[in-house]
Amino acid sequence: MKVEDVKKICVLGAGLMGNGFAQTCAQAGFEVAMRDIEDRFVENGLNMIKKNLSRGVKKEKITQEQMDTILGRINGTTDLKAAASDADVVIEAIVENLDLKKKVYAELEEICKPDCVFGSNTSSISITDMASATKRTDKFIGMHFFNPVPVMRLVEIIKGYETSDETYQLIDGLSKKLGKQTVLVNEAPGFAVNRLLLPFFLEAIFTLQEGVTTVEDMDKAITLGLNHPMGPFTLLDFVGLDTTLFIADYFYKEFQDSKYRVPTLLRKMVRANNLGRKTGKGFYDYSQKPPVPCSFR
Ligand SMILES: NC(=O)c1ccc[n+]([C@@H]2O[C@H](COP(=O)([O-])OP(=O)(O)OC[C@H]3O[C@@H](n4cnc5c(N)ncnc54)[C@H](O)[C@@H]3O)[C@@H](O)[C@H]2O)c1
Repeated sequence: MKVEDVKKICVLGAGLMGNGFAQTCAQAGFEVAMRDIEDRFVENGLNMIKKNLSRGVKKEKITQEQMDTILGRINGTTDLKAAASDADVVIEAIVENLDLKKKVYAELEEICKPDCVFGSNTSSISITDMASATKRTDKFIGMHFFNPVPVMRLVEIIKGYETSDETYQLIDGLSKKLGKQTVLVNEAPGFAVNRLLLPFFLEAIFTLQEGVTTVEDMDKAITLGLNHPMGPFTLLDFVGLDTTLFIADYFYKEFQDSKYRVPTLLRKMVRANNLGRKTGKGFYDYSQKPPVPCSFR
């Protein structure tokens, strides 16, 4: 299959990344089915897309008519078969959990067309491992986009052990059609970007846990001292603490290296459902305007 042959894209998950994919693909002219497991998650994803596009209309980046056309291309659903059976490409953006992802891929294998390509947006998990749940290991690839999908320009493309060059060319072309730049990365936990980002996140949480610094001061230090657009705690709240914990546990298991050990504070916060922006509280409290840093002393 060539990129010109791709007409319909099925996006799995309507969360942070999933709704960003649906919007970006629809903006590029593709027909999109966005599937989540419950109506309220689908609704939430659609509302996020409407909110984003309305902002574009207000700023006169797109017209109301263009917004309506883009929304018209997106079908939100909980029905996996309806979403995936006639898709040319599936982009999977469900929770970062290997067992769950493998279960979904085994279901997709039965539902999808034989030439449909499966692209996972996993942040860390082995592409080869997920592909083993299917019979199309040559048509399985990692396409790691960044949050927010409509804004961030990079896609890391990761070939699994048996991914074909045709699949790589297709996904490289598709990513470019979505307005992104690509890098090809060999398979390893966390690929390239998260291999560096995760230890940075974990060490920031350790400093907090040990009382070395505060949320506000560390974010201030990193933005002013390293010229990052935002500090680690602000970014952690954007990424989601549950996703970060999944990645950290996965790194620890895969690398068998204690440098990826998880700070107790991170695990406690996830158990308390303080997951960052998506639950209203993480390292900052978003019920206040502007958000206030939480105290951990
Ligand atoms: N958050 C980030 O910054 C970021 C960046 C790059 C990649 N990722 C990766 O993208 C994926 C999704 O992350 P997210 O931040 O969007 O998570 P999220 O928690 O915001 O959304 C995940 C969604 O998947 C849904 N889901 C669960 N099981 C499902 C199933 N069987 N079918 C369809 N939907 C299902 C959940 O209901 C939820 O709405 C993860 O693999 C994550 O590692 C995240």
